[in-house]
Amino acid sequence: MQEEIISLKNEALAQIMEAKTDEELENLRISYLGRNGKLTELIKNIKNIEPEKRGQVGTSINEAKNTLLTSLAERKNKISVSAKVWFDSTIPGIKPEIGHLHLITQAIEEISKVFSHLGFSRVRYPEVDWDWFAFTALNFPPNHPARDDWETFFIDVPESPQYGKMLLTPHTSNGQVREMQRIKTPPIRMINITKCYRRQIDISHTPIFHQFEGLVIDKNISVVNLKGTIDYFAKTFFGPERVTRLRPYHFQFTEPSFEVDISCGVCNGRGCRLCKAGWLELGGAGMVHPNVLKSSKINPDKYSGFAFGWGVERTYMMKAGISIPDLRMLYSTDLRYLRQF
Ligand code: DAH
Repeated sequence: MQEEIISLKNEALAQIMEAKTDEELENLRISYLGRNGKLTELIKNIKNIEPEKRGQVGTSINEAKNTLLTSLAERKNKISVSAKVWFDSTIPGIKPEIGHLHLITQAIEEISKVFSHLGFSRVRYPEVDWDWFAFTALNFPPNHPARDDWETFFIDVPESPQYGKMLLTPHTSNGQVREMQRIKTPPIRMINITKCYRRQIDISHTPIFHQFEGLVIDKNISVVNLKGTIDYFAKTFFGPERVTRLRPYHFQFTEPSFEVDISCGVCNGRGCRLCKAGWLELGGAGMVHPNVLKSSKINPDKYSGFAFGWGVERTYMMKAGISIPDLRMLYSTDLRYLRQF
């Protein structure tokens, strides 16, 4: 009996799925559930079944009946919707709006392209990393207050005995250490572009921002190579008339260290309201400190290198000549704002 019910139900379902009109559906309803319908006949027969099995058979028949009623209703709905869809192929279509890449993605792509011409490989390293990669291996002594300068977010997990605290990378310089460990034997020419995190938020600072970090290690690398690379970047990215200069500075991980300035594009270095003395600050750079090479097991007597690390947002705004009154807007989802770029 049970099998009979199931096969009747399946047979009916298959026919309902095939039905194309309301009329066909109505005929199917009558032939299965009408007064003399096939399922109705089974119901009538229940009284002839042994009393112990009656309950079970009754439940199955009821279940089959409900399934058929539901699928009849669903099919009816489908038929009526498709009957209403009206298509006129001569009406002009709706033009889908074409989006574009986010300003920061555009900047990252442009920056990577300039460096790819010089043979740099683009890499990305963890944004959640250990103190050792972000500070210690970069020549910050243990507990040195300089860690505070980076306004770092530390993560509340147990310290690693080997690598110390876990943190959100406050700069892309951890990528230097990771790249040296990955490549092991120079030459190295990397550009690491990724997000950085610092405890800062106001109109010109966001807790998430981006940096691009360059690292070149090889035999006989000197400041001349650093200056040449920076000049190439400045002229390709900002325009052939731009020049750069290096100002002495201090970073733990480079010696000597510099701040890199670029001549102002508005006044061409004469001095104006935008730049004050004719120069705009790009960011930090320097010759990789021997201790940094040593911590990544590269022999400083054999190899030397340079590094630089600049903000993507800042660098791109300088190029585009756009001033973004509130940097936080770049990370909002307000399309009215983002569409401008
Ligand atoms: N990591 C530095 C910062 O976030 C920037 C920097 C300075 C990176 C000098 C470098 C460098 O690679 O050589 O402020």
